[in-house]
Amino acid sequence: MPRFSESFRQLPAYPLAHIPAKKRELLQRGVDVIDLGAGDADLSPPAAVVEALKRAADTPSLGRYGFNLGHVPYREAVSAWMKRRFNVAFDPMTEVVPLIGSKEGLAHVAFAFLGAGDISVVPEPAYQAYFGGTHLSGATAHIYPLRPATNFLIEPADLPREVVSRVRVVYLNYPNNPTTAIAPLEYLERVVAFCRAQDALLVFDNAYSELAFDGYVPPSIFQVDGARDVAIEFHSLSKTYNMTGWRCGWAVAKPEIAGALARVKTFVDTGHYMGIQAAGVAALESWAEFVPGNVEIFRERRDAAVAAFREAGFQCDTPRATMYLWIALPEEIPSRRFADRLMDEEGVIVLPGSGFGSGGEGFFRISFIVSPDRLRDAASRAGRVLGRLQQERGAEPLAGAR
Ligand SMILES: Cc1ncc(COP(=O)(O)O)c(C=O)c1O
Repeated sequence: MPRFSESFRQLPAYPLAHIPAKKRELLQRGVDVIDLGAGDADLSPPAAVVEALKRAADTPSLGRYGFNLGHVPYREAVSAWMKRRFNVAFDPMTEVVPLIGSKEGLAHVAFAFLGAGDISVVPEPAYQAYFGGTHLSGATAHIYPLRPATNFLIEPADLPREVVSRVRVVYLNYPNNPTTAIAPLEYLERVVAFCRAQDALLVFDNAYSELAFDGYVPPSIFQVDGARDVAIEFHSLSKTYNMTGWRCGWAVAKPEIAGALARVKTFVDTGHYMGIQAAGVAALESWAEFVPGNVEIFRERRDAAVAAFREAGFQCDTPRATMYLWIALPEEIPSRRFADRLMDEEGVIVLPGSGFGSGGEGFFRISFIVSPDRLRDAASRAGRVLGRLQQERGAEPLAGAR
C-alpha cells in the first residue's frame, strides 16, 4: 500500500461523510427516515433555470471546455446582481470568479494565501472547508470557538499576540452555519479594520445572504469601507435557488485577489459545464420573482420547527437567517451520542455539534428542509430519544462514571 502523506493522515474524517451510507442502510431496513442533516431542501429550482438547462443541453458550444473564463453572460449576471442587491460594483472579467459550487473556492483560495508557518483564523463550529483548505495548504488553523456568550462572533481583540503576528487569512461566515448567528455591520467594520492592519485576507462566506427572515437583510462585506483592499466574498446558488447538486457559485474581489484564486483553479479544474452557468444566469435573473416565495416556505418551516422542538423539550433561538436550528442539549448528553441514537432508534438524521469541531459540542443542528408536518414528526421522535437518554442517565449509579 503506498504511504499516505503526513498532511493527509492528519485530515479528520469529514463530519457528513458517513451519513449517506447510514441513511441507505436505514432505508433498506424499511425505516421511515427523516433527513434533517445536510442543508439540502426538498424544493425545486425556478422553472426558468430548468428550461435554461434544457436549452443548454441542445447547444453544443456550451458543452465544450469552459476554462477559466467560463460562460461570459454568467460573469455579467453575477456582476449585475451584486450591484443590484448590495450596490457594489465588480468588473465581470477581472473581479468575478465562477465556481463549481462555493465550497471548492473556499478551500482553494487558501492555496494562494497560506503556506507553512502561516496561520488562518478558523471559527468552530464551522463549515469544514475553511479548515480543509488551511490544512491542505500546509498552514495552521487557529481555532476560534463560537459560543453564545459572544453572539457566535470572532472578536479580533481576543486573538493571542503570536497568532496576530502570523495571521494571513480570517474566515467569517454570517449568516452563520451552523449557529445561525448574524453579524452587525459595525462588527464587520472591526474585522475589516483588523485585516487591513495585519494585511490578512478576509474570506467572507455569504452562502446564506438570501435566506433571511422577518425583514432582516444580510449585508455584503463590501458594504464596509476599505473591505475591497483585503476581502474576497463567496456566494452560492445552492441554498437561494434550491440548486445544491447543480454546483454553481462565485467569488468576487479586486483583480489581484480574484486573479489569485482563478490561477490556482487553472491547475485543478477546467471550469464547470457552461450549461449550468447558463442556468445560473436564469437563476440570478429570477431573483426578485422567485426568492421571496421560496423564503416564505422556509419561514413557515422555521416557525414549525422552532415550536415543535421547543415543545419536545429542547432549547433553541428563532434564527433570523439560514435553514438551520442550532439546538442546545443538556450538558450531560454528548451530541454525537444523541445524534447516533436518534438515527438508530428513530430514523431522524441530525448533525451533532461536535461534527463541526469540538467547539460545537453541547448542540446539534437540524436543517428545516422538509414540510412542517415532517418537522413536527422529527421533533417528537427527537424528544423521545432525549427523554430516554435522560432516564438512562438517571438510572446510572454514578454521574461521573461515564
Ligand atoms: C457556510 C457554507 N458555505 C458554503 C457552503 C457551500 O455551498 P456550495 O458549495 O453548495 O455552493 C455551504 C453549504 O452547506 C455552507 O453551509
